[in-house]
Amino acid sequence: QVKKKLIAGNWKMNGSLAANEALVQALRAEIGAPGCDVAVCVPAPYLAQVQALVTGCPIALGAQDLSAHAQGAYTGEQSAGMLKDFGVRYAIVGHSERRQYHGESDEAVAAKTGAALAAGITPIVCVGETLAQREAGQTEEVVRRQLAAVIHSNGHCISEIVVAYEPVWAIGTGKTASPEQAQAVHAVLRAQLAHASAEAAARVRILYGGSMNAGNAQALLAQPDIDGGLIGGAALKAPDFLQIISAAR
Ligand code: G3H
Repeated sequence: QVKKKLIAGNWKMNGSLAANEALVQALRAEIGAPGCDVAVCVPAPYLAQVQALVTGCPIALGAQDLSAHAQGAYTGEQSAGMLKDFGVRYAIVGHSERRQYHGESDEAVAAKTGAALAAGITPIVCVGETLAQREAGQTEEVVRRQLAAVIHSNGHCISEIVVAYEPVWAIGTGKTASPEQAQAVHAVLRAQLAHASAEAAARVRILYGGSMNAGNAQALLAQPDIDGGLIGGAALKAPDFLQIISAAR
């Protein structure tokens, strides 16, 4: 059975009460019955607002990060349980911006993945190489190390995660990986999942992220191991995001 693709918008640190309302209303008006799963990962202060806005329409709510801890003295963090209170279905974990600006290690990403799974939130685990790493021929080694940290962390039901391959050099730069470049890395990740569990390899959706837009989505999504997209900039424009959703049917 072919798995449904997932198109997830990552709003990053963008939005306002007014802008969020306009964006979600525009999506609701046109989304109809999408042929794929759709989610928007919104800034934490707007979870309650967007939870209300997406009620009754086929857009799931996502967060952009979560704490590895359940509760306690962790100033500034949000636990998986708190996110669940607002109907959060997905949480991005280990986005390259978290790894780069907040020093998130592979171990921290694995712990957050475990916290999400324990709460019944689907973690969208991000992996990807920098330009320097690609040019040094280290792409495969880097993404395999990042995924291995999650696969081999104790107690994770690996078939319940979503993986997002996001080459750092393609994020927000307008430089997309070619469908062939992306497919090659996705195939590596699929094989790594298969080595851990045949069920995981069959079930886990591997998303591509990095300057995916209305123009290039179709070619990327046509690749055999690309099961959806994690969309930054283009998710902030309703017509673009809707076109990407259409391309994933
Ligand atoms: O999480 C989304 C990715 O970082 C991609 O962002 O579509 O703006 O390049 P972008």
